[in-house]
Amino acid sequence: MASIKLERLIKNYGTFRAIKGIDLDIADGAFVTFVGPSGCGKSTLLRMVAGLEEISGGTLKIDDEVVNELEPRDRDIAMVFQDYALYPHMSVAENIGFGLKMRGMEAGEISKRVKEAADILQISPLLERKPGQLSGGQRQRVAMGRAIVRRPKVYLFDEPLSNLDAKLRVDMRTQIKRLHNLLETTTIYVTHDQVEAMTLADHIVILKDGIIMQQGNPVSVYERPISRFVGEFIGSPKMNIISATVSRDSDKVNFTNEGFALSVSACEKADGQLIEVGIRPEHLIPCDKENALIAARVDVLEPLGSDTHAICLVGKQELTARLDPSLRLSPGDTLYLRAEPEKIHFFDPESGDRLEIDVPQQAAA
Ligand SMILES: Nc1ncnc2c1ncn2[C@@H]1O[C@H](COP(=O)(O)OP(=O)(O)O)[C@@H](O)[C@H]1O
Ligand SMILES: [Mg+2]
Repeated sequence: MASIKLERLIKNYGTFRAIKGIDLDIADGAFVTFVGPSGCGKSTLLRMVAGLEEISGGTLKIDDEVVNELEPRDRDIAMVFQDYALYPHMSVAENIGFGLKMRGMEAGEISKRVKEAADILQISPLLERKPGQLSGGQRQRVAMGRAIVRRPKVYLFDEPLSNLDAKLRVDMRTQIKRLHNLLETTTIYVTHDQVEAMTLADHIVILKDGIIMQQGNPVSVYERPISRFVGEFIGSPKMNIISATVSRDSDKVNFTNEGFALSVSACEKADGQLIEVGIRPEHLIPCDKENALIAARVDVLEPLGSDTHAICLVGKQELTARLDPSLRLSPGDTLYLRAEPEKIHFFDPESGDRLEIDVPQQAAA
């Protein structure tokens, strides 16, 4: 078990700065996910923790000890990659135990650990097979087995499920979470898939261009995104953003656009300025015309069985509502929608930053 501390961590590739000063505290036993678009620096940051990438600046500590210069093999970390190379001529058991054998561990102990790991991963019946006789998911579990037998202080995963089909990915996700509940080993897990990041983590770190955009408990990030980028990145289908114009009358501020009207009591924006209003598809509630915030024209319906996604037009802007499938709708229908005040987010159109604006209860109800 181990805690990990990143202090002002920097990585330069020549003149390009891939990691731009990252501060992060990872508690002993935590499951942390790094998520962000391709190229944002997830793998680089993980490889710096592993010792596979030299650190250009800042400090990396494991259990309060600075390990910047420590060789990967001396960090007591096990890493699982997307492309796991298994030795084709060795059996599953030999593949799992190979690392321990190389370290000179005694055969009896290796066999005991391999059995234990195979039990945890439910691959005991496969131990005598060769990798060529396994499915993709089984091979990925063998790769995880190699990491488990080492009983390291830290597990690092770099998109380990990216090569698996959708159903298997969900199964393996559950298995990885179960594994962490059982072993309670500090884990960092890199993924570009926000659902994977949300469901696995007790602490999620959202990266963009080598910087942390937001971090915290996944639910708190979902409920209170600090920027439009995070709001749209976390949650599926993604958050609707409606652009509106600010107008003021005697005691109220109105945000309006074609098919959209919301009154708030105060806002720093001047008359005529623009504002972005964010509402998640699952937070839109069908209502009467009188109570509506939005009048949308239904364009395309996507029935999923459990719910229906209605892709609508609000004026010229597109909006998705996640609705109860029992609602009978057809393309061309007008759909009146509202949202609870605490489910309405505001962003500055220029910076993308979250704006704190109070929505009175009656305005949206
Ligand atoms: N060895 C390298 N040399 C130069 N640039 C690199 C190298 N590795 C990664 N990069 C760059 O650093 C950035 C972050 O890459 P990476 O950590 O692989 O992103 P991610 O894993 O989030 O997709 C990218 O712009 C990438 O092109
Ligand atoms: Mg990567």
